[in-house]
Amino acid sequence: MTDELTPETPDEDEQPIQQRKNGLYPGVSDELAENMTSGWADTELRDLEPIEQAPNAARRRAALSRRFPGERLVIPAGNLKTRSNDTEYDFRASTEFVYLTGDQTDDSVLVLEPRENGEGHDATVHRLPRSDRANGEFWLDGMGELWVGRRNSLTEAATLLGVACADVRELAGALRGATGPVRVVRGHDAGIEEALADKVTAERDEELRVYLSEARLVKDDFEIGELQKAVDSTVRGFEDVVKVLDKAEATSERYIEGTFFLRARVEGNAVGYGSICAAGPHATTLHWVRNSGQVRSGDLLLLDAGVETTSLYTADVTRTLPIDGTYNDLQRKIYDAVYEAQEAGIAAVKPGAAFRDFHDASQRVLAEKLVEWGLVEGPADRVLELGLQRRWTLHGTGHMLGLDVHDCAAARTESYVNGPLEAGMVLTVEPGLYFQADDLTVPEEYRGIGVRIEDDILVTEDGNRNLSAALPRRADEVEAWMAGLTGRQA
Ligand code: GLY
Ligand code: MN
Ligand code: MN
Repeated sequence: MTDELTPETPDEDEQPIQQRKNGLYPGVSDELAENMTSGWADTELRDLEPIEQAPNAARRRAALSRRFPGERLVIPAGNLKTRSNDTEYDFRASTEFVYLTGDQTDDSVLVLEPRENGEGHDATVHRLPRSDRANGEFWLDGMGELWVGRRNSLTEAATLLGVACADVRELAGALRGATGPVRVVRGHDAGIEEALADKVTAERDEELRVYLSEARLVKDDFEIGELQKAVDSTVRGFEDVVKVLDKAEATSERYIEGTFFLRARVEGNAVGYGSICAAGPHATTLHWVRNSGQVRSGDLLLLDAGVETTSLYTADVTRTLPIDGTYNDLQRKIYDAVYEAQEAGIAAVKPGAAFRDFHDASQRVLAEKLVEWGLVEGPADRVLELGLQRRWTLHGTGHMLGLDVHDCAAARTESYVNGPLEAGMVLTVEPGLYFQADDLTVPEEYRGIGVRIEDDILVTEDGNRNLSAALPRRADEVEAWMAGLTGRQA
């Protein structure tokens, strides 16, 4: 980075900027220091309304409070991570903090402080305030607003979030001196964890993390609305990709990644996970995110991508598309089998069903197809019992979806994987068949073909709703949809 873009921090004086007085900035004339402290308008925003999800976040905090009465609960958003020198990786606030506040500001920490009367908690979001103009931090500190942009004042943030706000720079010291039971969500803020190191245990902190994962299993109306928005943007992103497949053929899978990312960045926050833009045999690599390969007419493109909304809810959708617009006979045969497996899986999604049911339903269809094609010796029951289909089905058939693509991952087995489905849960149904390029147990023409179809399914009171139904799935519908977007005849 050039000198012009680096704050003019003094060479010799190691004193924190906040502690310096006017006239004591080495390398800065008293006149400039004096000049920089004044002449700035009052920009306090006074007509703010709470964010849409403020009442939802309040209900979530109230439930958390009821679960851990009398205990101090500390939920950090996380800090910026250095990429090199004074550049940082993109920041993404911790899911737990976002869920409980609707806020996404780095360095912030939500604290639920137990009330002295033993009834409930008082919530405070500790965060960086506006930069002080008088002490120099505004322009001499790398985190000063002159460098990183205006922050909300503590008063503004309190209005937006519907939660009291305080200066986070005083929090670690206060926590260090505090007494009483305390739990922290680990893994996001090393400074806060260090301040609490002799007061917390891994086991008790894990109980907090598990609670916050399980609390997210059933989505509220705001969350379902955001997931639908994420899916709708994702559908548009898939359309964008189909329209530029010729350009991808002329370049690489990266053209697909970049095209989808443009949609994600313009309509949402970003992508919810690294886009898998897997052409040809790359489709058999489950997490192909290098996206460095050739895109060839005649091959399939497995595109697994999801827009993350500005509120940080993500879609997770996969389509396996014929790059030239038409599936050949073998591609169609495999695609149709996966489609049939997905149909069976989606039909098994309803309240009261076991979470595992949709996986079992999909796996049965795929096992029957593998037997029918002579790739494994039947009957299907034998294949399923021994798990032999897994050489080609590879992964589970779906997972919860929400703020995280693999949402609720810390939930206990009995509440999630071995639990029942409930109205308000949102999950993916995503069976696949993958024939590795070097798999000598299948006929040569199968090798290098990978197909996955993935949709985002809301469990409703009487069954389910496919949030991603706007994106065609059946082979002939996919071909017609592609022809309509590209002008190429299917
Ligand atoms: N995109 C990751 C998954 O489908 O689970
Ligand atoms: Mn996916
Ligand atoms: Mn998925």
